[in-house]
Amino acid sequence: MKSILSSSQPFNDQRPGTSGLRKKVRDFQVPHYLENFLQAIFDSQPVLRGGTLVVGGDGRYYNRDAIQIIIRMAAANGISTLIVGLGGLLSTPAASCIIRKYQANGGIILSASHNPGGPEGDFGIKYNTANGGPAPEAITELIYAYTRTVDCYRSVDSDSINLDIAGEHRLGEMCIKLIDPVADYAELMSELFDFKLIRKLFAGGNFRMLFDAMHAVTGPYAHQILEAQLGAPAGTVINGKPKEDFGGGHPDPNLVHAHEIVARSTGVDGVDFAAASDGDGDRNMILGRDFFVTPSDSLAVMAANAHLIKGYREGIRGVARSMPTSQAVDRVAEHLGISCYETPTGWKFFGNLLDDGRITLCGEESFGSGSDHVQEKDGLWAVLFWLNLLAVRRQSVAEIVTEHWRTYGRNFYTRYDYEEIESEAAEILMDRLRDRLPNLPGKSLRGHKVEYADDFSYTDPVDGSTSEKQGIRIGFKDGSRIVYRLSGTGTQGATLRVYLEAYEADLAKHKKETAEVMGPLIKVATKLAKIKARTGRRAPTVIT
Ligand code: G1P
Ligand code: ZN
Repeated sequence: MKSILSSSQPFNDQRPGTSGLRKKVRDFQVPHYLENFLQAIFDSQPVLRGGTLVVGGDGRYYNRDAIQIIIRMAAANGISTLIVGLGGLLSTPAASCIIRKYQANGGIILSASHNPGGPEGDFGIKYNTANGGPAPEAITELIYAYTRTVDCYRSVDSDSINLDIAGEHRLGEMCIKLIDPVADYAELMSELFDFKLIRKLFAGGNFRMLFDAMHAVTGPYAHQILEAQLGAPAGTVINGKPKEDFGGGHPDPNLVHAHEIVARSTGVDGVDFAAASDGDGDRNMILGRDFFVTPSDSLAVMAANAHLIKGYREGIRGVARSMPTSQAVDRVAEHLGISCYETPTGWKFFGNLLDDGRITLCGEESFGSGSDHVQEKDGLWAVLFWLNLLAVRRQSVAEIVTEHWRTYGRNFYTRYDYEEIESEAAEILMDRLRDRLPNLPGKSLRGHKVEYADDFSYTDPVDGSTSEKQGIRIGFKDGSRIVYRLSGTGTQGATLRVYLEAYEADLAKHKKETAEVMGPLIKVATKLAKIKARTGRRAPTVIT
């Protein structure tokens, strides 16, 4: 087979963000753009030479083209075995599972997560290391450094590989294994959860569930696990066929985009349990009848109930949450007498804590939770965790959560996103806020007394590395909190996220609407940052 060296030019905009390199499809289609980034991965990661690499994606537009490019370049860069998901599909958690199970040296996941797909949409590429997790910052920075000098790339001259036929192919010295994307992951789930008990729940006939795969990658996983293996009736999984443009939708499992299951879990005829996952299958939304479980609460409930679940019967070692995630789980950790770590936003910061055995469960307010079973957040895992819990406790979702609040108090939570604002305006807003931080402690803002105000910095307790400027935190004496940070995953302009949290121990006030409780704090947050004046926005684009 002929190996070809093509000349290209370095790109200066390939620095991976919160979760890999994410750009518009049309940016990735610029000649040599993807190739340049891939060559930077191969050059900076010598462990891949002679090793095994796992490749798959969420099935979005350009997934198949990108995989053919990876196959040709992997063959020319000395990869010995390339494991590819059939149809080019692998959910992010399944990729992590497969990297670990087959002791691969790394993995490439093609996804822009919950961002829209299609020719006008987004595309992304993430590199995961041998532990199955997202490459830590030291590696993403090294890859970035390489992207700025790479001026040629290696590939082989070959026909495309048919991605739809399982089995082994040879390409020169490299063996390509096209594997079922679901089987290994489903097996892992059956080890963690009590499938027999969940089957009984469905067989009883009184329990109804819906899972919205949002025309993204979890469709085949959910059909197989929920319907085929757990006996949920056909029709439980909706939008289960992966589509290149996600059916024109926005594969983000929140109250706005997963509206179909919101509607069908509302009212007396609503289903008992509904859930959704995102483009690449690592996010989840959990709903009961007439009840939305905030991701922060979901993590806290999971931590408090883990001992009831087969795979966590021995108890959990510790927990971690990203900084903007509500402090609900902290209270559970305190009660259990285990450590609770606060990390910067992004799953990569959980990696060392998981590897080092310091934590068992972790999560983010952005609809992500996971455990030490893989090194990624895992949407279907969270859904199965809840299903298993419902099967054990035989209570409704609402009962389980309100009982939790009764024990621990309630952390009301909301997030305001201001999308596609001008990058420069966003930077100025953050800089001006930063300038004000030293003067805030001790001040009273509309009756909320500021206890601390800082720009979050994190020192990893395992490797000692430090990450600075991870978001502005303003904590109040009454336990409430405002956090401001700029998104690291957007592809257009800047996105300002404002996270708000208020703690309420009083049982009588738990029934209040979140919007009502948060009202005063929202006013404080918008005024303090001068959001209207600096961004021109009167209202956020999305409220979750
Ligand atoms: C967002 C979420 C973050 C998550 C990331 C990848 O990043 O806020 O929690 O880890 O997507 O799914 P952001 O856009 O805020 O940088
Ligand atoms: Zn995702």
